Amino acid sequence: VTDFGDPRTVARLGALYESADIQRQRRAVRDILALRPGARGLDIGCGAGHLACELAEVVGPDGHVIAMDPSSQMVQATAARADNLGVPVETRVGDAGALPVDTASLDFVTATQVLEYVHDVPAALAEIRRVLKDRGRVAIVDTEWRSCIWEASDRELVDRVLDAWRDHFVHPDLPRRLAALLRASGFADVTVDAVPVVNVDATEAAFSVGILPIITHFVRDHPDVSPDEAERFADAVLAGGVDGYFFSVCRYLFGATTRTISGEGDR
Ligand SMILES: C[S@@+](CC[C@H](N)C(=O)[O-])C[C@H]1O[C@@H](n2cnc3c(N)ncnc32)[C@H](O)[C@@H]1O
Repeated sequence: VTDFGDPRTVARLGALYESADIQRQRRAVRDILALRPGARGLDIGCGAGHLACELAEVVGPDGHVIAMDPSSQMVQATAARADNLGVPVETRVGDAGALPVDTASLDFVTATQVLEYVHDVPAALAEIRRVLKDRGRVAIVDTEWRSCIWEASDRELVDRVLDAWRDHFVHPDLPRRLAALLRASGFADVTVDAVPVVNVDATEAAFSVGILPIITHFVRDHPDVSPDEAERFADAVLAGGVDGYFFSVCRYLFGATTRTISGEGDR
């Protein structure tokens, strides 16, 4: 799996999450949390801190946002971003399996593109439930890369590289299991929305163009892909098919609450 302490990864992720595609995803996360000023919450696996900073703006000076990541480099990047933007974010180094937060102390928890890297997902969900107050909310995003279409004239090469890329994740198939896992962990009001990322132009601002060096860097060391094929893959998808560039992948946004009586509202 990827080394989230590598400064190049920190820089690449920081740039990738500025893309309009991922800004749209963060808006969807903020919408399902429906936060009020004064709310207190935690962003697990905060990465470069984009979401934590936005949440801190929403909850305002009477609220409180903790941004946590096992990578001290990511935590530093988040602290620097919060400083630059002038928003109060408390940063902590920690792991999803043992949250450094008091029981029943938070109104919301977020984990976007994180649980797919966590070995024991039920343990992480139990931790999220522990730190939330009654009627607290969680928002989780994970990607299903089997939903990816990346057009190129050499489709066999694209399939092989995307097969290898899925080894970047501990749980590449988490979205199809997560609603059931949330319910089994005692969460109520479980909702699932697809958050598609679709690019029809290979501009620098496109998510797919931003993630391309991360994918080629990873698959270059994969036994099923040679370094030469990793380079060819980048050229192949950027050249697109006979009708031009096309990329699409589905992320899934899960919402749930700790409401103690479940039932109504599930979908
Ligand atoms: C793809 S990044 C997502 C960053 C951020 N949540 C976002 O959406 O902008 C994945 C993050 O999960 C963190 N991570 C990996 N394993 C973790 C674990 N066991 N507990 C908490 N965070 C973890 C990584 O360090 C990295 O910052």
